[in-house]
Amino acid sequence: MSIKKYTIGTPFVTDATVKEVKAENSIREYISVKENTIELTFPLSPDDIIYGLGEQLGGINKRGRKYRSFCSDDPCHTEDKEALYGAHNFFVLSGKDNFGIFIDFPGEIHWDMGFSKEDEISIVITGTDADIYEISGESEMEIVKEFRDLIGKSYLPPMWAFGYQQSRWSYPNKEQIDRIVKGYEDADIPLDTVYLDIDYMDNFKDFTVNEEAFPDFKEYVATLKKKGIRLIPIIDAGVKCEDGYDVYDEGVENNHFCKDRNGDDFKAAVWPGICCFPDYLKPESRKWFGDKFLTLTEKGIEGFWIDMNEPALFFSMERFKKAVDYVKKYNGEDLNCWDFFSYRDQFSNLSNNNEDYKNMHHLDGKVSHYDVHNLYGYMMMRGVSESLPKDSLLFSRASYIGSHRYGGIWTGDNTSWWSHILLNLRMLPSLNMCGFIYTGADCGGFNGNASRELVIRWMQLSVFTPLFRNHSAIGTRDQEAFAFSDSDEFKRVIQVRYRLIPYLYDLAKKCCDNNELMFKPLGFEYKDKLSKECDDQLLLGEEIMIAPIYEQNKSGRTVYLPEEMTFYKLSGNKVTHKEKLSQGIHYVDVALDEVPLFVRKGKTVPLCAPAKNVDSLDKTVTEYLEG
Ligand code: GLC
Repeated sequence: MSIKKYTIGTPFVTDATVKEVKAENSIREYISVKENTIELTFPLSPDDIIYGLGEQLGGINKRGRKYRSFCSDDPCHTEDKEALYGAHNFFVLSGKDNFGIFIDFPGEIHWDMGFSKEDEISIVITGTDADIYEISGESEMEIVKEFRDLIGKSYLPPMWAFGYQQSRWSYPNKEQIDRIVKGYEDADIPLDTVYLDIDYMDNFKDFTVNEEAFPDFKEYVATLKKKGIRLIPIIDAGVKCEDGYDVYDEGVENNHFCKDRNGDDFKAAVWPGICCFPDYLKPESRKWFGDKFLTLTEKGIEGFWIDMNEPALFFSMERFKKAVDYVKKYNGEDLNCWDFFSYRDQFSNLSNNNEDYKNMHHLDGKVSHYDVHNLYGYMMMRGVSESLPKDSLLFSRASYIGSHRYGGIWTGDNTSWWSHILLNLRMLPSLNMCGFIYTGADCGGFNGNASRELVIRWMQLSVFTPLFRNHSAIGTRDQEAFAFSDSDEFKRVIQVRYRLIPYLYDLAKKCCDNNELMFKPLGFEYKDKLSKECDDQLLLGEEIMIAPIYEQNKSGRTVYLPEEMTFYKLSGNKVTHKEKLSQGIHYVDVALDEVPLFVRKGKTVPLCAPAKNVDSLDKTVTEYLEG
């Protein structure tokens, strides 16, 4: 087991790692330093598997695709996409050689993982200053543990954050929140939190609460708390430019905002219109912004989700004007197809444009944002975490390795598609490898309309993920657990989560303390071909294997058992099925109100009784599932 560090040029300090590793005197043959880039090339043998890369599309095995590290606000997670909201530059190669590589570089990286050439990994770092870590070890797990030790201990929220959570864009006022709480109460379904999306604010201004919508916010927060329900507000990265708005005024006065190339405050539009962007890379500015959260914790708030921190930019005035001038020029003209396409692209390319990222500057104009893009969400979360009371819930959309010490992440704007249940499952081990233990997807899917069957099947996976939050976009069909017919079926699935909470929380804590994975690919434990290729089942801790159903109109699914296991189905407070299954392939039936799981031979899973929320959970073990 060893870590070697190769330092090229003068890397920007990211604080991704916590352990001092002395740089080697010379670099390895697989690294070549070019005029504007650094390139890494590794041969791939036919049976090699690539694990890792955190929040990315593709399978558990990352081989055969291209990826990009560039935190991106992309709400459409189709197969062709190369980048999502996180930049997690760590992978493990498992096969002929076993090693891990971590590239500590805050800008854009292109990963060709056996796509252009099937027998080669080719990585292009778009800069000439980076730290490259090479980690060797006997097994994949040993490499991951060594890496996790290098990057420091993962964040763990308070136990109530493992309860079932309900969100929507938006429940904009007290009446809507009351409707949701009552919906859950009437249906007798457990619930721990309700989320406040952007409409709770006054004109989308961070740290404001619309007083008409929430007349006495502090008292309201306390009333809900008495019922065991916590309100979790969203805070966005950009600050509305409006004279007289204290956060904006203070930011301007104390030089807290990023600059443009002329040294003026950089401006671009997000939800509230034109915004300035706190320079989270400056310690005093991220502290200033983090301390603002205390205005809400003083009102009883105990958790936050922070968003749009890639940062997402809808448009800059400069580019918008250019687009409008272009359109005016061609207005009334007979356009050929190329002119028309370029006309149309003027607008489709307005958001999250690299020209704007290049114009945005950090550290009083010294560093172009483009070069350190992947640190923005990370440093925002760092500042917030350093200001918040210990034991707060905090998670972010954008992230870099290092963020995992300060909070969790959710996986952004997925869609109510069956394939996104599978995507959720496949991301879990990769995220864990990169340090993100408190994580989960928008259960039921964010974009699009969800069917009853999809939401309940998705829940059969989410009952195992630390963040279990149902969230959906504006304009989509209601997808709360009580919104569909026969809500008792949803109740029985969600109750299973509460029965598992002491086990899951304990496991998550162990994974944070000992740098373990909560979710492991089967190939980490079993070396047979089917285990290594398995892309739709996971090991949970040392005890459980999960195999959720992710297809429509199915009464069950085919499962591969690498060894003998005991198959259980849980529903509400009952174990509805127990069966020893031999090593091999089986078809198992699973009804909509059951949660399937497989207990490994000789292992035991404790269950407690269900409860209406975590505060009232009696953690005494009532039953053991034996493997
Ligand atoms: C972004 C977030 C989403 C949120 C929406 C409105 O799209 O990813 O979760 O609901 O913004 O705030």
